[in-house]
Amino acid sequence: MSTVVVVLAAGKGTRMYSDIPKVLHLLGGRPMLSHVLAAARTLNPEKIQVVTGFQATMIHQYYAMRDDLSCISWIEQAEQLGTGHAVMQAMPDITDNSTVLVLYGDVPLVNSQTIKRLVETAKATDIAVLTLITDKPHGLGRIIRDEHGKVTAIVEEKDATQAQKQIREINTGIMAFSALHLKKWLKALNTNNAQGEYYLTDTVAIANASGKTVGSLCAEDEAEVQGVNNRLQLAELERSYQLAQAKKLLIQGVTLSDPCRFDQRGDLSAGRDVSIDVNVIIEGDVKLGDRVKIGPNVTIINSKIGDDCEILANSHVEGSILASGCSVGPFARLRSGTELKAGAKIGNFVETKKSVIGQASKVNHLSYIGDSTLGDSVNIGAGTITCNYDGVNKHKTNIKDGVFVGSNTALVAPINIGKNATIAAGSVITADVPDGDLSVARGKQRNIPGWKRPVKK
Ligand code: UD1
Ligand code: CA
Repeated sequence: MSTVVVVLAAGKGTRMYSDIPKVLHLLGGRPMLSHVLAAARTLNPEKIQVVTGFQATMIHQYYAMRDDLSCISWIEQAEQLGTGHAVMQAMPDITDNSTVLVLYGDVPLVNSQTIKRLVETAKATDIAVLTLITDKPHGLGRIIRDEHGKVTAIVEEKDATQAQKQIREINTGIMAFSALHLKKWLKALNTNNAQGEYYLTDTVAIANASGKTVGSLCAEDEAEVQGVNNRLQLAELERSYQLAQAKKLLIQGVTLSDPCRFDQRGDLSAGRDVSIDVNVIIEGDVKLGDRVKIGPNVTIINSKIGDDCEILANSHVEGSILASGCSVGPFARLRSGTELKAGAKIGNFVETKKSVIGQASKVNHLSYIGDSTLGDSVNIGAGTITCNYDGVNKHKTNIKDGVFVGSNTALVAPINIGKNATIAAGSVITADVPDGDLSVARGKQRNIPGWKRPVKK
């Protein structure tokens, strides 16, 4: 029996006060909906039907630009007439013998083990509800059980009696059904309730009345079923998500100076004895080798950092590959296409872009290195700039092994500096320098003896 996942994401998200649909708001650097889709995929469903309505095209476009679309189909719910109505829109494409799992696009941290168990329960009973025992049931549907503990109905807060409002077991909204029965039960829904909506939750009373046993499963972790209605809830869920990721890393053997001051917005793999100081942000796909040390206030995006590298405080590393034993920062910026060979050193206030820095080469202070290839054991003096841009085109700088560039040099590309050449400080180099030469390209110094400064008239 195959599983079809229906994700409800048509709601307006009024309380976000946003021009962006709620499910595209980010949690851990990814839209909430992407988290839900990832959890849904772990079930190997026959398909995932996402019901969209409010700003549907923005959602479709977001995913069209990514490779996320296999097995996903978009279902339109033009008017949002309730959760029952939303599921009705998805039913025509679902075969009777499948199991339907309903997820919410704004409940991003659903746990794949939990939903797997819920689907198993629904296969045994034809209908299963994921519930939660909470101290804050306000605003949520309450689970009604009979004297034997059997679930008989779900009552929305707005329709509940005073006695029912005391119930602490709530409906998380996540439910699973036999498609055949769900189709029947949806037909029996009406809008005779406080909100004038088709409530998906009414299927529980209908199933119960027809003699079905309603299966239920109680979620263990509040965060995994927490819905997001406003930015406060999103921020709170972000914190709990980040803390969970930090704890996972600590358990795996990564040192974090403070798990509350670490943000991972993507995938991180880390070797042995890695240590990460406070306020570090990891984005996209990041790999850290063994014994890597990351200083405070460092951001690393889509990069690979080799064994024994050290990234010092306040550095920004993006789209870069570092071999082993490199040192970067403090206050360095490695932009996309930077490659550091083993033991290379990038110091403070240095920016690099689309450049290879050879083994044991050093760019220690106040430099810009762009569209350049540096060989091994090159030393770039403080304040050296590769002038790669003529205002229209970018040009390349090629610096061979063993070159020594004096401070405050401008290397006007395209240009080649030969092996072991030396460039005098303060030079503006506009022509190639042969192997082994000293190149001096600056105004000659003139000393005027006894010079008198002008005086004020
Ligand atoms: C729903 C449940 C409630 C449960 C709560 C958990 C119903 C009637 N009530 O209430 O028992 O405790 O979730 O958060 O199901 N949506 C659509 N189309 C619609 C209406 C909603 O796609 O026409 C989507 C929303 O975008 C959202 C989800 O369904 O992702 C839930 O809708 P919402 O209005 O937030 O339901 P609640 O009233 O919170
Ligand atoms: Ca809600």
